[in-house]
Amino acid sequence: MNFELSKEQKLVVQAVREFAETEIKPIAAEADKTGIFPIDQYKKMGRMGLIGLPFSTEYNGAGGDYLSYILAVEEISKVDGSLGISYSVQTSLCMGAINAFASEEQKKKYLPDLCTGKKIGSFGLTEPSAGTDASGAQTVAVKEGDHYILNGQKCFITNSPMADTFVIFAMTDKSKGTKGLSAFIVEKDFPGISIGKIEDKMGIRSSQVGEVIFEDCKVPAENLMGKEGRGFGMAMKTLDGGRIGVAAQALGIAEGALEETVTYMKERKQFGKQLFKFQYLAFKMAEMKARIEQARYLVYKAANDKNSGKSYSVSAALAKMTASDCAMYVTINCVQMLGGYGFIKDYPLERMMRDAKITQIYEGTNEVQKMVISGAMFR
Ligand code: CAA
Repeated sequence: MNFELSKEQKLVVQAVREFAETEIKPIAAEADKTGIFPIDQYKKMGRMGLIGLPFSTEYNGAGGDYLSYILAVEEISKVDGSLGISYSVQTSLCMGAINAFASEEQKKKYLPDLCTGKKIGSFGLTEPSAGTDASGAQTVAVKEGDHYILNGQKCFITNSPMADTFVIFAMTDKSKGTKGLSAFIVEKDFPGISIGKIEDKMGIRSSQVGEVIFEDCKVPAENLMGKEGRGFGMAMKTLDGGRIGVAAQALGIAEGALEETVTYMKERKQFGKQLFKFQYLAFKMAEMKARIEQARYLVYKAANDKNSGKSYSVSAALAKMTASDCAMYVTINCVQMLGGYGFIKDYPLERMMRDAKITQIYEGTNEVQKMVISGAMFR
């Protein structure tokens, strides 16, 4: 077992940390306040090769390994969890699905502009009545000549208000349940697709999340990804990868919160001494550090499992569940450490606490992760 990052991985960490500290950290609070996505910084991430990090250079990717990409999500999320999830949804879910399941022609058509950040990607599975029960999708796709006609509505779709390219799941045969779901690559300019309500959220406020509505939306038959009826397996497999991204986002949020709190505890004095000199508080910090290190190893292991071609459903579920619970535990405790200052917006802790909550919910609630983990134990 090798716990050391490679030279290339360390270089990725260094470059992304520098970028995050200088270009994202200074604007993160304002983006949270206004709910405006920092598109210029995101586009720069594309030009830097971060969005296409784990994909082949043939498609304008950087040809990096999955752990390098996961380290990049972690570094971005240390300063801004909103940007962390927008990045992860584009790379892990939208591009991850296309890279794994699309035809060569489709990959050549869609991946290059997604890799460079010229185009923004989104992934539409969830519907008002199909959240945890992803197989309950009501959106239908009916084949008519050389097109499919899509009707239905997706909700809680990250990046959708600004996306150019969507991976969308729709029923081609409702009577077949999970075997009736198919996957399509849908462009924002196809007739009949529109964006509905944009959500006003508790956390990750600058990430754009909205409804996607299909009204007789005409999708060329050549945009079917893989075969009809294979969509559910594709969605699940893609989400396994995405859950490692969410785990990295959660890990980053927890680390960011702890770093801010260390700084504060060195500066802040009460009863004539710095806060870290109170053993009760220092021990609390040690407990949080331990939770972060536990999460880190699960997150990196899941990324390595994916990278080395091993099965990674369970390791991704373990990483996502552990890292998101860790993020919630750490951020709540860090807010407490700062007392009143933790509760006001002059410090980033309250934002980090709000951002942490969703990591226990999306890309499969932590209850779903327990279904995946326990399901494998008793199979
Ligand atoms: N990989 C490949 N195939 C898989 C799979 C996986 N990880 N998991 C299940 N499958 C296959 C099964 O093998 C099975 O195939 P067969 O019928 O051929 O045997 C088929 O899929 C059905 O499996 P299940 O019976 O286990 O399916 P289920 O209906 O009981 O659902 C579930 C299981 C785990 C609850 C699943 O529905 C699930 O993961 N739900 C959560 C959905 C989710 O994560 N949504 C997130 C939306 S995206 C998002 O959040 C992005 C964002 O905004 C940030």
